[in-house]
Amino acid sequence: MLPYGGKWKQGRKIYAMEMLNARRVKSYAAIRVDAVRKVTAEIARKASAQTPVINLSEMAMSMINANVIRVAFGDKCKQQAEFLLLVKEAFSYMSSLAVSDMYPSLKFFDTLTGLKSKLEAVRGKLDKVFDEIIAQRQVALAAQPAEEDLIIDVLLKLKDESNQEFPITSNDVKAIITEIFLAGTETTSTVIEWAMSELIKNPKEMEKVQKEMREAMQGKTKLEESDIPKFSYLNLVIKETMRFHPPAPLLIPRVCRETCEVMGYRVPAGARVLINAFALGRDEQYWGSDAESFKPERFEGSSVDFKGFNYEFIPFGAGRRFCPGMTFGLTSAEVALAHLLFHFDWKLPQGMKIEDLDMMEISGLAAPRRSPLLALAKPIIPLSAE
Ligand code: HEM
Repeated sequence: MLPYGGKWKQGRKIYAMEMLNARRVKSYAAIRVDAVRKVTAEIARKASAQTPVINLSEMAMSMINANVIRVAFGDKCKQQAEFLLLVKEAFSYMSSLAVSDMYPSLKFFDTLTGLKSKLEAVRGKLDKVFDEIIAQRQVALAAQPAEEDLIIDVLLKLKDESNQEFPITSNDVKAIITEIFLAGTETTSTVIEWAMSELIKNPKEMEKVQKEMREAMQGKTKLEESDIPKFSYLNLVIKETMRFHPPAPLLIPRVCRETCEVMGYRVPAGARVLINAFALGRDEQYWGSDAESFKPERFEGSSVDFKGFNYEFIPFGAGRRFCPGMTFGLTSAEVALAHLLFHFDWKLPQGMKIEDLDMMEISGLAAPRRSPLLALAKPIIPLSAE
């Protein structure tokens, strides 16, 4: 998230070549599936106990957090819970209104409102936790080299190498990992909670996606990541969810580097630019008169994709700032949704009608549901004991 320049370019290269390339993302499959299975086991336990109402929003977040924390630090990190709380706190301040964003000359307002001191305090605490995590990992690696590189291992190796044009410092390691959590957790869990919300609200589509998955598995009960390409309707459901509920509705705020003209409007250098992906995804000019309906079939046989070439559909952005975590985020969402839909049937809690389901989002950098998604789970395909 650095400003444009050599150091940012080097960072993008590290994301693409070292941290989040397709091979590396694939190598984290076991971690992903393990994190999802722990949560589905918890859902199965609740479904058969006296507390059958599942908070799917919370479950989605805890699946993704468990996945990202293990990919970043491994499963022996003692500071997991503390780290996640601090990142959550930092994210809430980042999304809150900073007067100096609107009026740069009024910087002192952020001191008056306490925002600046809160941010500094959370940064100080994060720094301390990071120092502990890094020291622990260095000791563990010295005792026994890792079988598969975690994100922290990749970054620590790069830090020790002297061939980088912009040497990687400890602060860079901390910043990149924080960035992965800020950019990659709530966005991904938001896809899961909105996909589940839309499917619960649209029973025909729910039935179709589950039927396809259960038939494709041909009696096999243990779902693997390699089964996912068979679920083509699930893929359409995810696309439609991201059109209708882009997790970052205004992408990430950008700054115009050079004065330019767009459709007759002069955009001065230094102006903050917001791109409304939410409005583009619901524009009838591109999506037709049913743009406000959830209809995964609209992507069937269509070449429109979210890879940044169709500007009416840009949940991951477009251009040189395109999201470097797309494959990681999508794979995590697919695995989580596949497990939730394959193993369980879902309906709203007793007495609640589809019309009662709150479909409003929170406005901020990310757009999760305003109220948590509560649903009843009925186990259909037993979870495999292995
Ligand atoms: C479904 C999940 C995700 C969505 C919807 C999403 C969406 C986005 C969007 C809209 C942008 C801004 C693009 C632009 O300005 O053109 C972005 C940037 C970014 N994303 Fe993602 N993201 C997701 C997952 C992830 C994950 C899992 C990671 C890391 C592991 C990640 C890391 C980043 C980073 C570092 C940037 C900044 C790139 C730059 O400024 O050069 N994202 N993402």
